[in-house]
Amino acid sequence: MSQYRLWIIWIIGSIYVSGLLSYWMFFSEDKTQFLPGDTSYAHYQIELKCSACHEEWGEVKQNACMDCHEQQMENIHDSHPKTKFNTPSTKKMLKKVDATRCVSCHQEHKPESTDHGNVSQPSDFCWHCHDNIAEERPSHEGVTFDSCSTAGCHNYHDNRALYEDFVAKHLDEPNLKEAPVVEAKEVYKKIVKIIQAPLFPGDVAVTEELMREWHDSAHAAAGIDCLQCHRTSEKDSTWVKKPNYQVCMECHEQEGQDFQMGHHGMRLAHELSPMTPGMSRSGLEFKRDAKHKELTCVSCHSSHEYDVQKAAVEACLKCHNDSHSKKFSQSKHNHLWLKEKGGTGLVNSGVSCATCHMPRVLKDVRGEEKIVVEHNQSANLRPHDIMVRQVCMDCHGYEFSLKSLADEALIQRNFIGQPEVDLETFDWVRERNK
Ligand code: HEC
Ligand code: HEC
Ligand code: HEC
Ligand code: HEC
Ligand code: HEC
Ligand code: HEC
Ligand code: HEC
Ligand code: HEC
Ligand code: HEC
Ligand code: HEC
Repeated sequence: MSQYRLWIIWIIGSIYVSGLLSYWMFFSEDKTQFLPGDTSYAHYQIELKCSACHEEWGEVKQNACMDCHEQQMENIHDSHPKTKFNTPSTKKMLKKVDATRCVSCHQEHKPESTDHGNVSQPSDFCWHCHDNIAEERPSHEGVTFDSCSTAGCHNYHDNRALYEDFVAKHLDEPNLKEAPVVEAKEVYKKIVKIIQAPLFPGDVAVTEELMREWHDSAHAAAGIDCLQCHRTSEKDSTWVKKPNYQVCMECHEQEGQDFQMGHHGMRLAHELSPMTPGMSRSGLEFKRDAKHKELTCVSCHSSHEYDVQKAAVEACLKCHNDSHSKKFSQSKHNHLWLKEKGGTGLVNSGVSCATCHMPRVLKDVRGEEKIVVEHNQSANLRPHDIMVRQVCMDCHGYEFSLKSLADEALIQRNFIGQPEVDLETFDWVRERNK
């Protein structure tokens, strides 16, 4: 073949390849072929939205991480914010680990070098900067390099439940408090207005069951009739067959926003289809027939019933099927829950899945402090001591709670039995107090 022809083939080939690439880059919805590796558990659900983290031309956005995590870092009073590294002595530390960049410790698309919690540093990295801790604190003499954050003592970002003063204040509390109940829910303002004949178009097929469910719901009691969920907009009453979660957010904005921040709802925040168990890549086990169940508000609340007790356990077990979830039914906590549900236990003395994973927390809702149900079920999972402060300590002593959550086997058994790990933190603080 002549050189001339080879040139033509080469040029046409290159144009074809670069055309294909630019098509993918600019027009194709699916850019996953450019991924250098699997995206982490933290973010794989939203990996299709490259633009959440990357500039159009590929590089990672200047402020990508903080765009989504700023509020969280503020809430937990991050122990290592950028601002801690602007003195000469702390600037020097950045040569070891550049702690002003999130990706120094949280890489992405590199599963081989990221560990649980999406951390890509070896477990002894705290020592790079804190190697003289034993001089400042004699109690730390001889502690192992990797124990700073594995022994229930410190975290990198969130140390609210671990400061010595906090530990000292809650030292020697009994395992079970005198009145073991969680915070009561705050009821929204009820607009009680009995609706005699709810309006809906004649061609809508309505069953008796549907009418009964609606009639007995908090919505009917508050004067929310069919059209308030089923209309197209406030001005347009055209019937919508399947209202989506955005309708709920018109009245329950806080719940919706929180839902979109966790592993249940994070895809919706990016206009992706709802999450389903079938899409899961985490290895969590689900019921086989739940593969295609979509995660929206009605997965737990059902279309018209809105029974919050069903939402707190039964709904979860329609999907979740790992050993921790399955063991729950045999726990003392479930026993308490059944007593509360049955009316023989005190109100708020039961422990459901939602008690731990969707606790009642104080939030600023449109300028008003309110106790609402945390709809981001990822918010208190990692590090564990968030759940200790937020949930367990309503009913249990601090030491018992922290030890329970440090005991992986006990979590697996869904808290059947006593904790069997020891945490030195408590001994040290006792020693100091002597
Ligand atoms: C949640 C944020 C996030 C999303 C979503 C995301 N990436 Fe990334 N990506 C990163 C970060 C952070 C790095 C840098 C990793 C590092 O330095 O270790 C990166 C690195 C890369 C790299 C390596 C090049 C480089 O600059 O090091 C490529 C290629 C890439 N991403 C492609 C994609 C594509 C294609 C998508 C969408 C299908 C995507 N990414 C979605 C956060 C993200
Ligand atoms: C588009 C929003 C978004 C962006 C951008 C984003 N994240 Fe996330 N990230 C989330 C959500 C949602 C979760 C899951 C909720 C959770 O686990 O707290 C999460 C989880 C995490 C976790 C795991 C938390 C855990 O408990 O396991 C880490 C670590 C993390 N992100 C770091 C980063 C870093 C570093 C960047 C920048 C490269 C980044 N994120 C960019 C939304 C985002
Ligand atoms: C020097 C290392 C380092 C840097 C830099 C770093 N992180 Fe982390 N991050 C960690 C470690 C270690 C954990 C594991 C849990 C812990 O110890 O708090 C973690 C956990 C997290 C979590 C899970 C929840 C939590 O409170 O622990 C999020 C979210 C997170 N990091 C986001 C970020 C963001 C956003 C940045 C950038 C502003 C960042 N991280 C910078 C080391 C780092
Ligand atoms: C890049 C350097 C660097 C790394 C890595 C680092 N730290 Fe720090 N840390 C600092 C600096 C600087 C301070 C602030 C010192 C001060 O205020 O005296 C600090 C403060 C702290 C504090 C006190 C927090 C507070 O709010 O007062 C704790 C606890 C802590 N670090 C634990 C850790 C743990 C645990 C790790 C590893 C998971 C770690 N650090 C990794 C630099 C680092
Ligand atoms: C609080 C909001 C809300 C109210 C009030 C409400 N609906 Fe619905 N309805 C929904 C949602 C959400 C769905 C769709 C669920 C899904 O995605 O499958 C639905 C679905 C339906 C369906 C489809 C069949 C089914 O059961 O899924 C019919 C028919 C219906 N509603 C009729 C009514 C009638 C009649 C009323 C008044 C008596 C009413 N709805 C009140 C939210 C509401
Ligand atoms: C037009 C406003 C409005 C819309 C739309 C709406 N709700 Fe409500 N919702 C209310 C009011 C008002 C109450 C009653 C609050 C009370 O009495 O405490 C309520 C109560 C609830 C409750 C608590 C039930 C209980 O027994 O405590 C849940 C759960 C709920 N709504 C979920 C939803 C979901 C999911 C959607 C969307 C399908 C939705 N709501 C749509 C106004 C609305
Ligand atoms: C994973 C299951 C689940 C999903 C998904 C879910 N909820 Fe809930 N929701 C619950 C549980 C459980 C409770 C009651 C908890 C309690 O009583 O402490 C609740 C309570 C509520 C309440 C009343 C109490 C309050 O203060 O918040 C409202 C309103 C509500 N949900 C709205 C929503 C909306 C809107 C969505 C969708 C954006 C949604 N929920 C999605 C499980 C869920
Ligand atoms: C429609 C199915 C479905 C229902 C109902 C459901 N979940 Fe999930 N859940 C999922 C899926 C899917 C994930 C994401 C798993 C993944 O990313 O691999 C998940 C994740 C979780 C996680 C892990 C979050 C994290 O950050 O790692 C917890 C905890 C959880 N669910 C608890 C609950 C509780 C409690 C309930 C009931 C109040 C519930 N779920 C109801 C499907 C469901
Ligand atoms: C007493 C508190 C408590 C109760 C009750 C509880 N859990 Fe958990 N759950 C936890 C803790 C703590 C973890 C461990 C989180 C970790 O290690 O990341 C966990 C982990 C999980 C996880 C796995 C999250 C992950 O990323 O590995 C799922 C799913 C889950 N729980 C669902 C449920 C369901 C469903 C129920 C009810 C049938 C339930 N839990 C009851 C405290 C509780
Ligand atoms: C509403 C109150 C309440 C909350 C919240 C609560 N518990 Fe409990 N828990 C109890 C009660 C009551 C018992 C039963 C004590 C008894 O009968 O001996 C119990 C028992 C236990 C047991 C011993 C079980 C056994 O089989 O002996 C463990 C471990 C435990 N809880 C851990 C936790 C942890 C960890 C949390 C937080 C994630 C938590 N609990 C949240 C009330 C609560």
